[in-house]
Amino acid sequence: MAKIAILVGTESGNAQMVADVLKDELAGHGHEVTITDRARSAADLAGCEVALICCSTHGNGDIPTNILPLVEALEKDKPDLSALRYGVIALGDQTYSDTFCFGGKKLDAAFAQCGAQKVGERLEIDACTQPLPDEEALQWSKEWVGLL
Ligand SMILES: Cc1cc2nc3c(=O)[nH]c(=O)nc-3n(C[C@H](O)[C@H](O)[C@H](O)COP(=O)(O)O)c2cc1C
Repeated sequence: MAKIAILVGTESGNAQMVADVLKDELAGHGHEVTITDRARSAADLAGCEVALICCSTHGNGDIPTNILPLVEALEKDKPDLSALRYGVIALGDQTYSDTFCFGGKKLDAAFAQCGAQKVGERLEIDACTQPLPDEEALQWSKEWVGLL
């Protein structure tokens, strides 16, 4: 069983809602799960074996303010995250066709650049066609948890 930290990047709560649902689901599989919207550097991931990024996009392809410090720290310091596995749930809206899910995509790139090992494919949830992001994420997680 793994120690999983769900890293939330949100402006208006959808990603937090997804994280809350997945915490219960993953814990039900025996994993030790925490949620944080305050991770600011690799040090905040100490002791965590798996990070599940759950991040929306705002502005014009921008990363939510609460998780921006983490991305900036990873890009600047480039810590060795090769022992960390991670998954990505990106929330966006296809109406923003040029910047769809850029927040989650940028986090994905930042973790990959630090050597973290991605588990499964990134889930991209389109608010334009999916009014229930937690349900789509829950379905995705059933396969993802089997890959851990
Ligand atoms: C002002 C504003 C700007 C947005 N910009 C983008 C964007 O550039 N790209 C995208 O894919 N989604 C964009 N979205 C859609 C949000 O990412 C989507 O609604 C998401 O579910 C919000 O999640 P949150 O409540 O966790 O922040 C934007 C939404 C708002 C309200």
